[in-house]
Amino acid sequence: MSNTNSALPPNQVAAAVPARLHANESPYGVPADIWQEIEEQLATLELNRYPNRAMRLFHQALSEHTGFPEEMILAGNGLEEIILLLLVALGRKGRVILPTPTFFVYQQVATALDLSVVELPLIAESWQLNIPLIVEEAGQEEGLIIICRPNNPTGNVFPREDILRLLKETKLTVVVDEAYYGFSEETMLEDVPHHDRLIILRTFSKTYGLAGIRLGYLIAHPQLVEIIDKVRPTFNLNALTATIGRVALRRQQELFAPLPTVIAERNWLAAELAGIPEVTVYPSETNFILIKLPCAAAPLWQELRQVGIYVRQLGEEMPNYLRISVGLRLENEKLVSALRQLL
Ligand SMILES: Cc1ncc(COP(=O)(O)O)c(C=O)c1O
Repeated sequence: MSNTNSALPPNQVAAAVPARLHANESPYGVPADIWQEIEEQLATLELNRYPNRAMRLFHQALSEHTGFPEEMILAGNGLEEIILLLLVALGRKGRVILPTPTFFVYQQVATALDLSVVELPLIAESWQLNIPLIVEEAGQEEGLIIICRPNNPTGNVFPREDILRLLKETKLTVVVDEAYYGFSEETMLEDVPHHDRLIILRTFSKTYGLAGIRLGYLIAHPQLVEIIDKVRPTFNLNALTATIGRVALRRQQELFAPLPTVIAERNWLAAELAGIPEVTVYPSETNFILIKLPCAAAPLWQELRQVGIYVRQLGEEMPNYLRISVGLRLENEKLVSALRQLL
């Protein structure tokens, strides 16, 4: 897909193709020369064989890339698989604490597994962690707490000190989901060697712009990785994904090249949305923006769909909110002009 970030007159914007602003994907396709390298690498694979070799090579490359030894890394079929594996492996050790709102998959999977889930609300509107509440709830019991940093759907980054405090004052295993780290440039990877109860999650879906290949990984103390690895299917990465993953690590700089544009575009979109009367826009350090509407979100969401604009509704607890992914300028303009008309 070409970069169509040029401004169009509003009448042409209204006629633009469907705007996919609901899944926090990258609007940019893979550059042609990286595609070529992927094709060359894929052509060397023996697809009649199980993917041992491709998986091993990817693990080695990821170890070199991150600087962590292989026994501290576990890769999976997108972060969603990693989330499932870690909830299966660690979720029964105690309660699973979820500061909410958070990425819906955590609630969905933990509930489906019949785990003991405790939802603790973020502080309303500032969307910060309520640390005294979490510390009190956790007591000195073992268990899991899952924190997205930056958080989805609120878009903010919790202070690193808050997470360190949880590690110090509780016995919880702390999962920090860094799916959007590339937009905030905030990471707690360097804290992993000092904390044997800290797990960091990363994905290729957002900053690499490769949601389609399904690739994610976790980094943690070797003992934790060993426990989670016991529930991992032997060949959870297929040879194509593992091979594309290696190319992505090699070509990271080029794949990350659109990030400043996405961030500039996010800031443009936030300013435009803030200019619509009665719409509250929350600061974001991600590739999406949370907004609060003066009315119920559901009918508006439906009307937007009818004009080919897809955004995310946030369920019963957030009936007046929408989450909007940052798209190309054309898509963002289409959204803004539709909201101006509909509100
Ligand atoms: C916070 C968070 N974690 C994980 C994921 C899922 O990542 P993946 O595409 O690697 O399964 C998402 C996707 O939107 C997300 O927002």
